[in-house]
Amino acid sequence: MAEENVDLSEFDDIPDRVARAKAKAEAMRAAKGGGAAPASAGAGKAPAKKAAPAKKAAVTAAGRAAVARELTERVIVQTSPAPPAIRPGPERTQPLAEGGITTRRGFFSWLTLAWVAFASASAAGLTAMGRFMFPNVLFEPPQSFKIGFPDEFDVGNVDTRFTDKFGVWVVRNTSGMYALISVCTHLGCTPNWLSGESKFKCPCHGSGFYVSGINFEGPAPRPLERARIVLAEDGQVLVDKTQKFQYEKGQWDLPDSFLRI
Ligand code: FES
Repeated sequence: MAEENVDLSEFDDIPDRVARAKAKAEAMRAAKGGGAAPASAGAGKAPAKKAAPAKKAAVTAAGRAAVARELTERVIVQTSPAPPAIRPGPERTQPLAEGGITTRRGFFSWLTLAWVAFASASAAGLTAMGRFMFPNVLFEPPQSFKIGFPDEFDVGNVDTRFTDKFGVWVVRNTSGMYALISVCTHLGCTPNWLSGESKFKCPCHGSGFYVSGINFEGPAPRPLERARIVLAEDGQVLVDKTQKFQYEKGQWDLPDSFLRI
């Protein structure tokens, strides 16, 4: 009954919650301690009179608590270590050589590299396609050509005027003319005519051929080949390399392998 008579609302203006609770508790204890006498005396005003010193004590306690809290905060502030200075963070840009693709700059570097590679591959592909669509045109000399009239060739002479352009030697002897194809029968080099030695000599492996075209030295396995040689309608000598004659096959006996004059 004594606790119910204590007016605790007057402690509500104490700002500190702890102090307010302590003050209320003190008032309650004071009301309890002093409640026996008024109960026995039958008077209801006695607890109210006891509440004033209790409030005073509570306010004093609140003040002490506030002072203690302020001192504690000061101690905390003074003894707390200073916050670490803000230092610049690590370099975010990782060098490309170290595989720095995780940073934005590294990513764009790889992207640029990829685009350059793609453009190079595309250009190479287009170039190859262009070469395929427009191949180099190889202008080969005609395989059939006129070399002049028979009396323009000296007997016993090997005419080398047509070697570079048409790839033949024209030989004139007392009975006629024939055209030797200037390709070595070993591996295809072009022999030279050595008029002083009256032979064809291959510069590659040393094969030698007589003026007739028969091989006699070096690795050449067979004689030179002859081209078709005839008189054209206008009386000029016509050489036709599309038709060849091989000695070892007995083709030198065929009429068009030798032009009789
Ligand atoms: S190519 Fe002529 S000798 Fe070998």
